[in-house]
Amino acid sequence: MLLRMPPRLERFGAVTIYDVAEVIALDSMGLVSNEAVYGIPPQQLAEQASRTFIVIPTRDEDPLLLEGVISSVPLPSPVVLVSASSLEPLDFYSHELEVIRTHARLTGRRALAVHQHDPAWREALEGTPLKAMLEGDAVRRGKGEGMVLGVLVASWLGAQFVGFIDADNYVPGAVHEYALAYYTGFSLLNSRFSMVRVAWYYKGKPDSSHMLFRKWGRVSYHANSLLNLSVSLCRRVETNVIKTTNSGEHALSMELALSLPWAGGYAVEAFQLVYLLEACYVQLEGGGKRCPFLPAGVKVLQAETRNPHIHSEKGEAHLARMAAESLGALYHSALALEKVRAKVRGVLSENYYEEEPPAPRIYELEGINAKKAVSTYLERSLLAFDSRRG
Ligand code: GDD
Ligand code: MG
Repeated sequence: MLLRMPPRLERFGAVTIYDVAEVIALDSMGLVSNEAVYGIPPQQLAEQASRTFIVIPTRDEDPLLLEGVISSVPLPSPVVLVSASSLEPLDFYSHELEVIRTHARLTGRRALAVHQHDPAWREALEGTPLKAMLEGDAVRRGKGEGMVLGVLVASWLGAQFVGFIDADNYVPGAVHEYALAYYTGFSLLNSRFSMVRVAWYYKGKPDSSHMLFRKWGRVSYHANSLLNLSVSLCRRVETNVIKTTNSGEHALSMELALSLPWAGGYAVEAFQLVYLLEACYVQLEGGGKRCPFLPAGVKVLQAETRNPHIHSEKGEAHLARMAAESLGALYHSALALEKVRAKVRGVLSENYYEEEPPAPRIYELEGINAKKAVSTYLERSLLAFDSRRG
């Protein structure tokens, strides 16, 4: 893959955000960088892939889609499925396991599957900072909660980078491209605390009667403009550099993933940027909150992929919840001045939602012993699958 060298960057305290870099060639067949584009030779790409583990969060998606997703992740990358799918009356999860098991057997890929509502998590997380994720018998439902489990398992497996790809991706070519963008992006950033976030060229849903490839998702449009506005007001210089506030497809260096606090539910992606800009820009310059990424700082690359992002239609109520949770991350942060908070309430009430957005649930991973937690989980679990054990 060849990525255009990011056209410009903006620095906010210890956070560097690169403006969107497009994919210039999906498959460069060995041709590598010049001054305008960046690519790495095939051997280096394969090495980067083997260090980058792909986490797939899923909840009751069609196993056919999962099959397309898992078979499109380049083979050197180990895969971790974190499922919150139903176990009864229909055992959706067993269908997912069948997909993973067959794939791992045919390819030899390292693959693990864990279930979010597995009671074995209680023993694994009790007495750790992630106890806060427990509810009832197991881990609370929520996409962010699933992603945290994915980070833990990837860390236990020895990942140096962790990338997320949703299980409801209809276009296998898009999944392949996201993975290549992660590998190429990390190599380009070459930094301890780095993040690659995908900006879709176009996105859409398969069952719209008049299919429209939208440039911006309905929620992303507002989330991006409100986050840019917040930063602009804090800095008193206007910016529009942020284009991936809600990017479900994104990847982090493991060091960054383990030191960041994580938000639950659909606040997860927006909170990553909000937290970084809050702790490592606004409050750092104001002498407040501790920024754990000094002196190196954090680099965020935004990569625009070529394939359309086509995923499942989940209805208006779902969009409303997503909007409220992701805008809630901004609303309850020090970035949001009253003007922004009023705009957030306006956007929510016009489009989706009458109440104040909820504050994100925050989980700290710092100080957790991932090896111990995941080993305990795997020893106790009756639901997990590990390709090494069959
Ligand atoms: N493990 C787990 N647990 N997975 C979940 C859960 C959960 O509680 N809830 C949803 N998922 C899975 C879904 O099955 C899907 O594979 C993926 O997480 C994304 O969830 P969707 O429900 O499809 O969300 P979306 O498509 O509306 O939003 C996606 O894109 C947004 C940007 O447009 C998500 O990735 C958002 O987080 C993102 O902001
Ligand atoms: Mg989706």
